[in-house]
Amino acid sequence: MSKVTSRVSGELTVLNEDPLVAGTPLSTMDSEETPARSFFVRNHFPIPSLDISNWGLSVTGEVERPLRLNYDDLKRLPSKEIGALLECAGNSRATVQPPIEGLLWDHGGVGSARWAGVPLRAVLERAGLLTTAKEVLLEGADHGKERGEAGELSFAMSLPMDKALHPDTLLAYEMNGEALSPEHGYPLRVVVPGWYGMTSVKWLANIKVLDHPFDGFHQTRYYVYVEEGAENGSPKERVTSLQVKSFITWPDRGHLLVAGRHQIRGVAWSGRGPVSKVEVSTDDGRTWLDANLEDSKSPYAWQRWGFSWEADRPGYFLLRARATDREGNVQPAKAQWNYRGFANNSIHAVPVEVRSDR
Ligand code: MTE
Repeated sequence: MSKVTSRVSGELTVLNEDPLVAGTPLSTMDSEETPARSFFVRNHFPIPSLDISNWGLSVTGEVERPLRLNYDDLKRLPSKEIGALLECAGNSRATVQPPIEGLLWDHGGVGSARWAGVPLRAVLERAGLLTTAKEVLLEGADHGKERGEAGELSFAMSLPMDKALHPDTLLAYEMNGEALSPEHGYPLRVVVPGWYGMTSVKWLANIKVLDHPFDGFHQTRYYVYVEEGAENGSPKERVTSLQVKSFITWPDRGHLLVAGRHQIRGVAWSGRGPVSKVEVSTDDGRTWLDANLEDSKSPYAWQRWGFSWEADRPGYFLLRARATDREGNVQPAKAQWNYRGFANNSIHAVPVEVRSDR
């Protein structure tokens, strides 16, 4: 297992300094919008330093008119704002059994924000797609080395045409009403609502329309499900849609509560339609009761929920929350194991102590 030291820096829990990997504290998830300074950061490589005066986005490949758009060109195109959460595929990896390699995300690899920008579709339409277009490759300006790979790589991911042309797949230049910060991809990033965060490419530099499947490292060898006993070299399923999931944002583990009524709070989401139910157990999963679930303003943002708990006797309690989405997907007690611990959506458990006030 790799070693990581975790510390809270400002409003983020830092797992790795360089490249920066840092998590959103659970208590900060207790609101509709995660402020940029508390929004998790997952970088594979150092943050590129970009000069906006000569920055440009190129659109090439299977298009009628290759383009180069600068920041002002993009700002002049019709814009759209979407609320969407991003979750890192490795989020909650630290709770996977048996333990796995990689950055030991506890639960901080998720945040929800308002993103404004131009639909990727609008830019592709300006360039004019050729009938040979099969995938859209999104390439960041960052680069570096990855373990086991020869030479330097840039961070790049492709989208199938239906996802690239989806009206809600955005080229975002704003987060929560302000220009993106360098950590979150300034000047331009992709936001792919409903998918794990890896395809939301930051510091977007190039869009290449391909006539063949992309086989880059991060797409075909990193963000893929490798099940137990999988053969080396066999094709692997890539990580895409977010699994249904919920977190308890209050109380936090280890909290001491005074006996009485308490409001347990949390958030829930799914990439496969809205969450239809959140249940809470205060007795280690023996009994479950429905929580009050709020709607969210956007189908891609998280939904908040609350549960009124009469904690009338002192003792140790294990609180759990379990979400179900409209398709009927339910959080499992134990997620299916895969080599990198991706997409772990097992039920969040929070141990607390209740004491009498005397
Ligand atoms: N884009 C680039 N260019 N480089 C990266 O390392 N990391 C990806 C994605 N986009 C990454 C990237 C991953 S794995 C995730 S989970 C999200 O960005 C995280 O976005 P955030 O750091 O703004 O939270």
